[in-house]
Amino acid sequence: MTVADEKRPLTKNIRPGQEPLDIAGYERAGGYQGLRAALKMTPLEVQEIVKKSGLRGRGGAGFPTGVKWSVVPMDEKARRPKYFVVNADEMEPGTMKDRLLLEGDPHELVEGIVIGAYAVQAEVAYIYLRWDYRLAAKRLSRAIAEARERGYLGAKILGSSFNLELYVHISTGRYMAGEETGLMNALEGKRITPRNKPPFPQQSGLWGHPTIVNNAETVCNVPHILANGPEWFKALARSEDGGTKIFGVSGRVKHPGLWELPMGTPLREILEEHSGGMQDGYRLKGLLPGGGSTDFLVEQHLDTPMDYGSVQKAGSRLGTGTIIVLDDRTCPIGMLVSLERFFARESCGWCTPCREGLPWVTRLLIAIEEGRGEERDIEMLEFHTKAIRPGNTFCALAPGAIEPLESGLKFFKDDFARHVSQKRCPYHQ
Ligand SMILES: Cc1cc2nc3c(=O)[nH]c(=O)nc-3n(C[C@H](O)[C@H](O)[C@H](O)COP(=O)(O)O)c2cc1C
Ligand code: SF4
Repeated sequence: MTVADEKRPLTKNIRPGQEPLDIAGYERAGGYQGLRAALKMTPLEVQEIVKKSGLRGRGGAGFPTGVKWSVVPMDEKARRPKYFVVNADEMEPGTMKDRLLLEGDPHELVEGIVIGAYAVQAEVAYIYLRWDYRLAAKRLSRAIAEARERGYLGAKILGSSFNLELYVHISTGRYMAGEETGLMNALEGKRITPRNKPPFPQQSGLWGHPTIVNNAETVCNVPHILANGPEWFKALARSEDGGTKIFGVSGRVKHPGLWELPMGTPLREILEEHSGGMQDGYRLKGLLPGGGSTDFLVEQHLDTPMDYGSVQKAGSRLGTGTIIVLDDRTCPIGMLVSLERFFARESCGWCTPCREGLPWVTRLLIAIEEGRGEERDIEMLEFHTKAIRPGNTFCALAPGAIEPLESGLKFFKDDFARHVSQKRCPYHQ
């Protein structure tokens, strides 16, 4: 199903299989008008517009962007330089939405960064890029060079008194580098572990200076909000949370892919109309609505609107909005093995429940999947879902890793029991 250009501002310039628009093409398509509008306002006015739009961070937690910006100290005494960092690490399993924007319309991100940096008066910005997004790195570097030549970056941007330097930084390729404080350690060249909060990055971030970390999709929304206004942005959505969202579907559907749709589009519509429903011979067994670290939802949840509040009410999280579908011929325990193996490998080792708990969980799941599991192994898995919780670990990696397991134990109870009683995986003949 195609979506009209005016209803998909983030992706309207993206032409699959073709080079992204160069700066002249981007300007012809209305690009850099949001920045021109922003520079006519005070930084606090820009923050206020973003607050009014209701934009919430697209990196997973859904924190209101304008509110985040408003915590940055704006007085003369604030430590300089301030930093504006785009989180484009994107290593969450099943998630590939930022890549579309980074490769498909790099100037949109560059424009969003300049506006965001202006709003908090940051002088230095970084794009923290997933290590294997080499094409994005090339296209972003070209866009940055073009933007600098046209006066959108560097000293005295468009004749104003605002200066900004923007760098692309290639990540070391660890999932933990996407956690915002781990990211700051990585940028400083330190071991990638999380930092205590408070102090929050807005007050004391990179090298102890005020720092904003925002997801790439979040930042791409900003030029459109400035160009068209907060009311326009709110009206794009089908729910209270404003704007559109890049949703994605992977798994055994007819047309896996990514679509920019109104925030609040029901799950059923994304699965059936946009991804074409399940492939012939397969039925939906469950799905992770927002990447690998969200709770499973099942058939009864298909009418849930995909927005932060509704998905939470249904028992999961909107997360990155990229759906991983589990079909009825794939072993749910095998799927959990893959996920937990990834999370255990990516643990930074800083705190015990994650460093020891995730490998333990993975070993138990492997034993059950291979038919070596016992009843008490299921009980032990349940114990771990209670022990590895927010508050018991230093960051959100391990509690996120536990979400699919905890909900899997609830929805696929029979599958766990059959593996134990039959002493084999019933999905493998
Ligand atoms: C283990 C872990 C990995 C994360 N990876 C990413 C990531 O790749 N990209 C991202 O934007 N946010 C990621 N986050 C969330 C960030 O910590 C942070 O909330 C986000 O970048 C803030 O941006 P937003 O307010 O625009 O959503 C991750 C969080 C955790 C705990
Ligand atoms: S939960 Fe603990 S060990 Fe796991 S990644 Fe976070 S800080 Fe590191």
